[in-house]
Amino acid sequence: MAPRPLRSLRHLPRRWRAALAALITALAVAAGGFSWAASAAPWRVGTDPTFPPFEFRNAQSGRISGFDIALMEAIGQQAGHPIEWVPMPFDGLIPALQARSVDAAISAMTITAQRARAIEFSRPYFQAGQAIVVRDGGPQIQTLDQLKGRRIAVQIGTTGAIQASEIPGARVSSFDSTPLALQELANGNADAVVSDVPAILYAIDQAKLTGLRISGEHLTTEYYGIALPLRSPILPAVNQSLNALIADGTYAKLYREWFAADPPVLPELAPAQEQPSGVFAGLDLQLLAVNLLKGASVTLMLTALSFSFGLLGGTALAVLLQTPWRWLHWGSRIYIDFFRGTPMLVQLFLIYFGLPALLQSMAVPFTINRLVAAVTALSLNVAAYLAETLRSGIESIDRGQWEAADALGLSPLERMRFVIAPQALRRVLPPLANEFITLIKDTSLAAVIGFDELFRQGQLMVATTYRAFEIYIAVALVYLLMTTTASLLFKRLEARWQLG
Ligand code: ARG
Repeated sequence: MAPRPLRSLRHLPRRWRAALAALITALAVAAGGFSWAASAAPWRVGTDPTFPPFEFRNAQSGRISGFDIALMEAIGQQAGHPIEWVPMPFDGLIPALQARSVDAAISAMTITAQRARAIEFSRPYFQAGQAIVVRDGGPQIQTLDQLKGRRIAVQIGTTGAIQASEIPGARVSSFDSTPLALQELANGNADAVVSDVPAILYAIDQAKLTGLRISGEHLTTEYYGIALPLRSPILPAVNQSLNALIADGTYAKLYREWFAADPPVLPELAPAQEQPSGVFAGLDLQLLAVNLLKGASVTLMLTALSFSFGLLGGTALAVLLQTPWRWLHWGSRIYIDFFRGTPMLVQLFLIYFGLPALLQSMAVPFTINRLVAAVTALSLNVAAYLAETLRSGIESIDRGQWEAADALGLSPLERMRFVIAPQALRRVLPPLANEFITLIKDTSLAAVIGFDELFRQGQLMVATTYRAFEIYIAVALVYLLMTTTASLLFKRLEARWQLG
């Protein structure tokens, strides 16, 4: 007998009916909640959190905060999208937007015509301008014109950097963040920093950066916009929410919280947004080649100097490791372990930024030249690595060779010079080549102290042309050319010594 079809729930006992109804409601609510969550996908927003009071990492909580951060979170809330923060360097923001690895970026970014060709901007949300910062007691500079021929420190890829690069004869050094540029100025290695007024004011007043002052203010008028990829689907939502926040007073409230002043009236569009954006200028290949060549020569110079000093130091250390004097032996060991066991990046910062800051705080006037700092840090490292290589080379020479040299009546120095060293050197040639190739690549770290070596030359070109892929590939190829040439030369040397 076929089961009776279930025609109506009315046949079910009342309690079951109630339970079923509750289950269906719960499912419906869950599904509704789920579809709501799915529609409000988070917006991934890039920011360079080294620019207080706009974006910075709160020292206590470790969270990213600032005016831009609060504003963007309010915009996200208004639009119904949670914000997922993606910290990255300022000069990486536009390439990241182009690659669409973030949905937007907020980073006190000035709306410029040049940038507006590579990315899209929201309506302006802040009015700022450039300022010149100098050291108390340093040269008097009030206008951009007076910066002619001076040493200027800037953050790479910023409008301050663009301003500085247009000053005739100025020697511009670029850093990954504005605090580092200010440190460069404080340490006496630059005459001025060009950057945005609000950020500078904050650094001097709030962060208590002593010894620096603003000497020229609002040299330009700039409007910040939220940056988005070209043809971004979320641009309308961002603009609508921003307008709503301006209209309902939320924006003014935030502004007062962060700047203790009433906000100015902002234009609907920044001047740079009004002109129809022109075609994006192609990459000037000749300029790229010239700049990369310049960078490569600096890289080679750094490598050659550091390897020579490192080889000398490494030999000295290897010899010291053999000495019977305990404290010399242990001194060398500690040296080697320290320099091999700490990142070269940290050592570079210590030598270039840390040392002068420390000595100056003790009223010792001390500045260190960029080249000296870079070569010192690199050589100290090479020496530490080579010491071990050379030591193992020396120790690998058969006991019989030492005894034979002694039997011939050679002095310890002659024994080293004529018997041990030539054989040991032949053995350590391959690891020596390794170290040399590593060094070629490691010189790129000198970029952090404002050195315009090969990598930084590429980075500088990306910061003005926004062609990250092509330029970094070109940079990589130049490094490859240098490392393969070096390895070929070492191979040759090895072959020749094998025969000799
Ligand atoms: N307004 C300047 C610019 O657009 C500087 C912005 C720097 N922002 C930052 N988060 N570091 O170039």
